[in-house]
Amino acid sequence: MGLNMRYLDLKRKIRDARMWAIQGITEAGSGHPGASFSAAEIMGTLYFRRMKHDPSNPNWSERDYFINSKAHSAPGFYSALAVAGYFQPDELRSLRQLGSRLQGHPVRYSEHQKHHSVPGIEYSGGSEGIGLSVGIGIALAKKLEGKKNRVFVLIGDGESNEGQIWEASMAAGKFKLDNLVTILDRNHIQQDGFTEDIMPLDPIKDKWAAFNWEVFEVDGHRVEQILDALNRASQVHDKPVMIIANTVKGNGIRHMANNPQWHGKAPPKRQTEVLLEELESECLIAPSIIAGERENYEDKIRKVEREGVDMIHLDVMDGRFVPNTTFFADTIKKLRRLTSLPFDTHLMIENPLGSIQEYIDARCDIITVHVEACTENEFREIQERLIDKGISPGIAINPGTDVPKWLYDCLHNLDVVIIMSVNPGAAGQKFMPEVLDKMMGINKQLRQHGFRGYIEADGGIDATTLQQTYDAGARIFVAGAAVYGGGDIHGAVIHLRHKAEVALERRLLNHATQINIRADWMKARKHILIPYANELRIEEELHAIK
Ligand code: DX5
Ligand code: ZN
Repeated sequence: MGLNMRYLDLKRKIRDARMWAIQGITEAGSGHPGASFSAAEIMGTLYFRRMKHDPSNPNWSERDYFINSKAHSAPGFYSALAVAGYFQPDELRSLRQLGSRLQGHPVRYSEHQKHHSVPGIEYSGGSEGIGLSVGIGIALAKKLEGKKNRVFVLIGDGESNEGQIWEASMAAGKFKLDNLVTILDRNHIQQDGFTEDIMPLDPIKDKWAAFNWEVFEVDGHRVEQILDALNRASQVHDKPVMIIANTVKGNGIRHMANNPQWHGKAPPKRQTEVLLEELESECLIAPSIIAGERENYEDKIRKVEREGVDMIHLDVMDGRFVPNTTFFADTIKKLRRLTSLPFDTHLMIENPLGSIQEYIDARCDIITVHVEACTENEFREIQERLIDKGISPGIAINPGTDVPKWLYDCLHNLDVVIIMSVNPGAAGQKFMPEVLDKMMGINKQLRQHGFRGYIEADGGIDATTLQQTYDAGARIFVAGAAVYGGGDIHGAVIHLRHKAEVALERRLLNHATQINIRADWMKARKHILIPYANELRIEEELHAIK
């Protein structure tokens, strides 16, 4: 939504936070992966993009405050603080160890407590239901002092059974605390069961509204929606704000997702490598709207948004860099009003530096230019300007082009590399299989030189070529004809997702086999693997696992 969030960098940081959290939990042999993962996007978006704070000056008087009231999400909270820069992430491996600063539940940082706490922790949590009251105290004090600090409080839905939550919510309404934003991690699980079985909370939205709060509701794993709601919250006056974030407990590890048994249990340490590979393998589907019937872009966007795709791929063609002409920044500006989905803009134009400002102003989230269309200096300037505006910079490479030497010096701040699998210029072209080895080679080369961004596959991607490019290292998949060419958009998106899942499960199974935990992994993953058993040729093996 053009939120200057440098979308792919934010996604990567949240991914890193999940990876550090799981390393801490498996190393300790205990901890709460479920809540650490359901709240990962919430805490990541606050610390990496929204909150005013300074890791080098944790007590900055103008800082915003974060109160983590669902304190058992400590591993996820610690890893967000670490990735934000408050301490070295590998300290997560000391989680819950005797003498570690990172204990099972966070302790408010102070000189006195510095041996079992880290800078940045504002509140000692543990027994739930209290953090909101503390947040209200801080918000009220800041208001009375006429200060501009904002207070963000994270609460859980199990925690919302506590009477104190509702006492506190009345007080916040009474004092019109518009400097207070509370986010509900609505993952529908508490301890070993589902909230609606244990203590039904719905209609939760009406409850908060009835207590004089402004209430927004978002998909709690979509950073663009969280950021959009946080921005809208800052426009609310005379009311505290509640953001209901619909989340999945354990999101990120498929056999932990929405499964109460992973509330407070650690996966075995021997599985860590495979879990890390899964967390690093999130796939993003980006339909290309130039495919299928001519134009009608608005309708095409609405249809795929309903199917839960991750981004919209916008192919800009100028009739010079490629023979075809599609649309330009003015059209993107109009489409921008339609959706909060990130815009993945692929510029197939000559002299991209000359018109980059138009695409910045059109509020694209990712802007990719062709290596064949700019010099090293031009690309460096483009990259700098995009990052300055919070836009993810990308570079695209045609089938016949090699990676230029100078690109290795730009990898640090490069968020995506498109490796074209067709010669650019139109949708619906045939995939060029000879690109697969190149893609694998480039992925390896770039990672060895410190590239931590995404490889994007673009051109002739369908259910078959998606798996091939997945194995070659791609994690963003553009699909034009495969989505819009057949008339069944719903079926097409589901099929692509399914194929991405098969590719993921195959990769994780191979990894588990390599480190001699195949049976162990299959046991932990059984209910996830069953739908793919045929494609993975593991039916008998899976059946034998009790
Ligand atoms: C080609 C474009 C692609 C294309 C994708 O120049 O960059 O994004 O539209 O469409 P399909 O998936 O049909 O090849
Ligand atoms: Zn494209």
